[in-house]
Amino acid sequence: MYLSQINFNNFRCLKDSKLLFGKDFNLIYGKNGQGKTSLIEAVYFVATGKSFRTKKVKEMRKYNFHRMIVFGKFERNDGDKTIAIDVNEEKKDYYIDKNKNKYIDYIGNLNVISFIPEDIELIVGNPNIRRGFFNYEISQARKDYLKSIVSFEKILKVRNKLIKEKKTYEEIYKIYNKKFIDEGVNIIIHRREFIKNISVLLNLNYQKLFDEKAELQLKYDCFLGDVEKKSKSELVEKFEEQCLKKMERESFLGYSLLGPQKDDFVFELNGKNAKSYSSQGEKKSIIFSLKIAEIDILMKEKKNIQFLLWTTFLRILMKLGKKVFWIILKIKKFNVL
Ligand SMILES: Nc1ncnc2c1ncn2[C@@H]1O[C@H](COP(=O)(O)OP(=O)(O)OP(=O)(O)O)[C@@H](O)[C@H]1O
Ligand SMILES: [Mg+2]
Repeated sequence: MYLSQINFNNFRCLKDSKLLFGKDFNLIYGKNGQGKTSLIEAVYFVATGKSFRTKKVKEMRKYNFHRMIVFGKFERNDGDKTIAIDVNEEKKDYYIDKNKNKYIDYIGNLNVISFIPEDIELIVGNPNIRRGFFNYEISQARKDYLKSIVSFEKILKVRNKLIKEKKTYEEIYKIYNKKFIDEGVNIIIHRREFIKNISVLLNLNYQKLFDEKAELQLKYDCFLGDVEKKSKSELVEKFEEQCLKKMERESFLGYSLLGPQKDDFVFELNGKNAKSYSSQGEKKSIIFSLKIAEIDILMKEKKNIQFLLWTTFLRILMKLGKKVFWIILKIKKFNVL
């Protein structure tokens, strides 16, 4: 499967047009400010409904325009498929083969992995950056996870409201607290499995590409502490215990103090937290290995898909120099480009 065509209308500075991609490696070059990153962003947007450089859809719409459309066509073994996002003001409509779809059904049709300088934030940034990233990555591979996340966010909002309104002794709170724990545990189990799998691949890639003697691990830092070997019922029990312990403090502060919305993920290189101890080069290498591991894991979780690895900023390629061309060759050998 590969993206063979993209059309855009009112996307940033790009002239409304249709662009065809080659099946293998596509090199995009041009002057500063010509629209290279915008083009890559349009590809990312049509695949994911999101941008890698802004959270505001308004910034992607051409100045002074209210409507923006991006359309993509990709070729698969079982025939061509089209996807499109129609943005009107803040509202986004998703189309698969011209039929309107929910976001949850849209996402995961075309899988994209991006690699941009800002990705270093995945190591040095706040936990919410890592949570957002892994939420999206796990969702690409597992639809059930996305459903759990969407449902959990709604439940959390209600739980927070009930705590704020001092209704923690009412029946309605008990109902929501149970939902909160059940959906929270589903999230923990998905995260635990996904991180365990990706950590193995991450280490293999790092050793293969950068340093065969290094040990790289990605650890799931769950708000419940060590959850590695716990059964579902043990997790529910532990979660319930913690809820009871924090109840008073939550009532005092007026919001939820625990839950998977507090989780984090830690990269450890040779047993040391990469955020505090790794060099710039090591951090970049970790991120690159992570991106390759994402491809590996998506290939495992979803069969019969081909991925696009977009190395968006040529500057990065230039900086990495020869090594990158070797990596690209290697990726081609793995058949992912
Ligand atoms: N919403 C928008 N509408 C119209 N133009 C925009 C919008 N957002 C950004 N631009 C303009 O688009 C131009 C191209 O930006 P882009 O980042 O895609 O360029 P680039 O080719 O990647 O440049 P560089 O080589 O410097 O990274 C910029 O000049 C920017 O001012
Ligand atoms: Mg650019």
